[in-house]
Amino acid sequence: MGPYWSYESHWSSRLKITDPNNTMALMEIVKWPAPVLDTPADPVTEFDEKLGKLVNNMFETMYAAPGVGLAAVQVGIPQRLFVMDCSGGKDPAQRVALINPEVVRVEGNQNGEEGCLSFPGIFTPVERSLRAIVRAQDVKGNWFEIDGMELTARCMLHETDHCDGIVFLDKMSSLKREIVKRKIKKLQKAGKWD
Ligand code: NI
Repeated sequence: MGPYWSYESHWSSRLKITDPNNTMALMEIVKWPAPVLDTPADPVTEFDEKLGKLVNNMFETMYAAPGVGLAAVQVGIPQRLFVMDCSGGKDPAQRVALINPEVVRVEGNQNGEEGCLSFPGIFTPVERSLRAIVRAQDVKGNWFEIDGMELTARCMLHETDHCDGIVFLDKMSSLKREIVKRKIKKLQKAGKWD
């Protein structure tokens, strides 16, 4: 998911990303309508070194974008996982990878601006649950739960949707969806959306 608050986006762009061991690899973020974004992803079954590397690269890609959430399908990998940091890199405790996420419970409602790194520059109001409890595995395969409110809930629901082949466009009113689709068509024609 993209940055929804301008302060967050400004803050993140000031983030210094250092890579003393030259191990960082930024991945290319695919834009909608890449088919991988509209296809349910496969469960992760191997909790190996390769998965750990993918997760690290996804974090670096998310911070550089900048965004607060990034699903593997957005870097062209059809697997059920996403990374999230709703503090935009400020609070290490909020840096978390959710592998094979499942929404356990939702409560209440919130309506607010939402963005997506696969829809650069597009921000529209999307209704979501106010609270979400999501169960997932960590990079070692251990199950854990996150009980999140507001931005954390919105982010977990947006990213779990990505794992199910659902994009935020699908969550908009049909009127909004048509407006966004038209905007993207214009950008494609102008060569500003590839
Ligand atoms: Ni997204």
